[in-house]
Amino acid sequence: MPIPQSFLDEVVMRSDIVDIVSSYVKLTKKSGGSMLGLCPFHSEKTPSFNVRADKQVYHCFGCGVGGGVISFVREIEALEFRDAVEFLAKRAGMQMPEDDTPVEDVNRRKRAFDLNREAARYYHELLHSPKGARAARYMERRGITKQIATRFGLGAAPDGWNTLSDEMRARGFSEQDLIDAGLCKRGSKGGVYDLFRDRLMFPVIDVRGNVIGFSGRILSDGEPKYLNSPETVIFNKSRNLFAMNLAKKTKRGMLILAEGNIDVISLHQAGFDCAVASLGTSLTDEQARLIKRYTENVVISYDGDAAGVKAAERAIGILDKVGLNIRVLRVKDAKDPDEFIKKFGADAFKLLLERSEGDTEYRLSEIKRASELETDEGRLAYLDKAEELLARLPNAAEREVYGRRVAESAGVSFEAVDSEVAKKRRAFAKRDKNQQQRAELRPTAQLQPRERTERYDSVPSVQAEKVILQCLITDASLISVTKEMKLASEEFTLPANAKVYQYILGRSPDTPVSSAQLMAGLEPNEAAVAAAILAEPITVTNSEQAVRDCVERVRVERAKGKPVGEDDIMELYRLKKEKEGLGGIS
Ligand code: UTP
Ligand code: MN
Repeated sequence: MPIPQSFLDEVVMRSDIVDIVSSYVKLTKKSGGSMLGLCPFHSEKTPSFNVRADKQVYHCFGCGVGGGVISFVREIEALEFRDAVEFLAKRAGMQMPEDDTPVEDVNRRKRAFDLNREAARYYHELLHSPKGARAARYMERRGITKQIATRFGLGAAPDGWNTLSDEMRARGFSEQDLIDAGLCKRGSKGGVYDLFRDRLMFPVIDVRGNVIGFSGRILSDGEPKYLNSPETVIFNKSRNLFAMNLAKKTKRGMLILAEGNIDVISLHQAGFDCAVASLGTSLTDEQARLIKRYTENVVISYDGDAAGVKAAERAIGILDKVGLNIRVLRVKDAKDPDEFIKKFGADAFKLLLERSEGDTEYRLSEIKRASELETDEGRLAYLDKAEELLARLPNAAEREVYGRRVAESAGVSFEAVDSEVAKKRRAFAKRDKNQQQRAELRPTAQLQPRERTERYDSVPSVQAEKVILQCLITDASLISVTKEMKLASEEFTLPANAKVYQYILGRSPDTPVSSAQLMAGLEPNEAAVAAAILAEPITVTNSEQAVRDCVERVRVERAKGKPVGEDDIMELYRLKKEKEGLGGIS
């Protein structure tokens, strides 16, 4: 625990969750002390995001996220735990205590930051020296100006095994430092060698201005074309975006998301100072949240090839989840934005940007592009796919606008398209309804987590686990009873339940934890479990007996050892009856 518990407790106490959430989400009061709003973590039209002032927790019945004030800030601001605490502390006018992370850890991080910064400086110096001539020529060939090279801190890694390591060791860093910072590897004869050789170096700089890693473009034809720093104590590819340190200052009111580093460089050089790229991986949820911290609008401008189109489709889904307005800009007659700008100039790109399409339009144009409109058969297939997409649009005006366009490109009347779309909508509605009814007839289905990453194999056990946690969270005096008949982690069906349980039992019964403090002490996924439980009304009347019975139940389920399938409905009902008998747990 790097931050003292007492400080955490105070930060949490001084940060009212309703206050904090309200600066991101419009909340309205509901009965029973809870507030409701549209979930900021998934897109929805009817509010299912629940905030309870009394318990200081949030929980979304729609997507299942939840936790306390710290996890809310972590999620919404895309921050690490410590940074989230600092964010709240600042807001509450509190001074962060000195970090008491083990000294070695602090030193390792600090040395990794220092070393990456030193390395970036050295690579940059080399770019202007004879040793970096190859990289400088390459840069010139790619049309990158000196000015932009300076703005991005580009550098040269010459073609030797120890260029960087010798220099950095002369500057006082150890071999271990070089390995920890992801700049060198251990050779087979001991010693270390440089990871980046014969490459044009792009430093990756976080939003606070720290060099956290590198991406290096090979100067010859070797493999891999781009080499990225490995994950280190300071470098996490999925949480950072290339050039975000510059793009966050843009006045354009949007970010352009490109695929490649060179695309980003070209865009900035052409005046589009809002371009960023993910670092050689496909876009992640964390990166989407990072983008959302700085803007509402994002324009996807990936490569024009099939892989780029597919990646754009995927990115739309991820960006849409965090509620960003998305447009797609597809370059024509060029493989990527870099080539497009070189061929047609910045003004042509500006035109494309102004005309870039919303995602419905983009998907429709994709369907059209993949269809053969010259034959009757092709036209029918095109209509079928396009109408399917139109039928999914919730907005009637959009259905009409796009419907007319589809009709025109297929050479049929709008009425024909419209009636097909209406037919498809009825079919979808019926199917959705049937599916829902079937789901309702299946009690086990309702108890399954929404995200199918964790599937319960014993529903009765999960129910019992929940009751145990509900009792423990709300009544600290049960801790000692529970300790007498302590469950082992393996006995739980859901690992997150086990974690919450172990955490609570680790606290002393004499100093009861508030639910807000509990949230602060748990990992995000565990906090979500606890928040979901706290968001439910409490109906257990005899808690001690309930805990005893439920522990028994967990053990019985475990002993049975067989997974309970969806056909064990009777079993489930029996359990429910039993529980009703002991105090009516909903
Ligand atoms: P591309 O192969 O499209 O690169 O990869 P590019 O921008 O067109 O490269 P140039 O123009 O030939 O220099 C796009 C991005 O994917 C990642 C890099 O981040 C690159 O910028 N990538 C690509 C890798 O991480 N490793 C690779 O081997 C290739
Ligand atoms: Mn490319």
